[in-house]
Amino acid sequence: MKKRKLFIAGNWKMNKTSSEAEKILVELKSKLSPYIGKLNIAVCPAFTALETAVRVLHGSNIKLGSQDVSAKESGAYTGEVSAKMLLDTGVTYAIVGHSERRQYHNETDALVNEKTKMALKSGLLPIVCIGETLHERENGKTYDIITTQFRGSLNGLTSEEMIKTTIAYEPVWAIGTGKTASKEQAQEVHALIRKLLTDAYGSETAEKVIIQYGGSVKPENSAELMAQQDIDGALVGGASLDSEVFTNLIANAIN
Ligand code: 13P
Repeated sequence: MKKRKLFIAGNWKMNKTSSEAEKILVELKSKLSPYIGKLNIAVCPAFTALETAVRVLHGSNIKLGSQDVSAKESGAYTGEVSAKMLLDTGVTYAIVGHSERRQYHNETDALVNEKTKMALKSGLLPIVCIGETLHERENGKTYDIITTQFRGSLNGLTSEEMIKTTIAYEPVWAIGTGKTASKEQAQEVHALIRKLLTDAYGSETAEKVIIQYGGSVKPENSAELMAQQDIDGALVGGASLDSEVFTNLIANAIN
């Protein structure tokens, strides 16, 4: 029996207009209703679909996340969206430091740390992503990279803030490639992250933190991944874009 309630979130990335979001969310609201009390579920649409999502999901327990949040509070930062704006829209979570933002937008651990702190300070719950590339894994650097990203991205969080933060372990080589980490490979890194949490905060806090796995999670592998001791949920890309597939993934994960 898992000590922690599973948390599965769909990261839609740069997919779905507002009207496309409305269609899938209407479907999800009904298809996911049998599961909703058994685990925490969130979807993370593009900024432009968030208002529609808030309206459609009203009365359901499916929560909303953004895919990013500004490190700044307000002001002359063209193109940025603040934590306060997101909260005001009805958003609960914010994905921070996704590997695609690290890779294509040069986000560093220091910036990810600033964004994480801004989210927490404002009342948003961050989902902080860390993960190694294939090159790093093949060179035996996985532990070093995870340790460095963990320390840099989560630097200075109090125990209370750490418990509110979800960590998503997303090996970059498994994202969008169809190559899932094996359950053993994923569990090994999740156990390392739990150990880093224990070293920094003690076991009571460490045991409360949700650590999601992300990277080609699908209905066929969600059960075996979620059965691992330190895997407490999933951050799902491609398989969250279809209501039937996402529902099957969730149904399998909790059984
Ligand atoms: P895929 O599930 O498409 O591999 O994407 C994973 C991911 O990046 C979720 O944030």
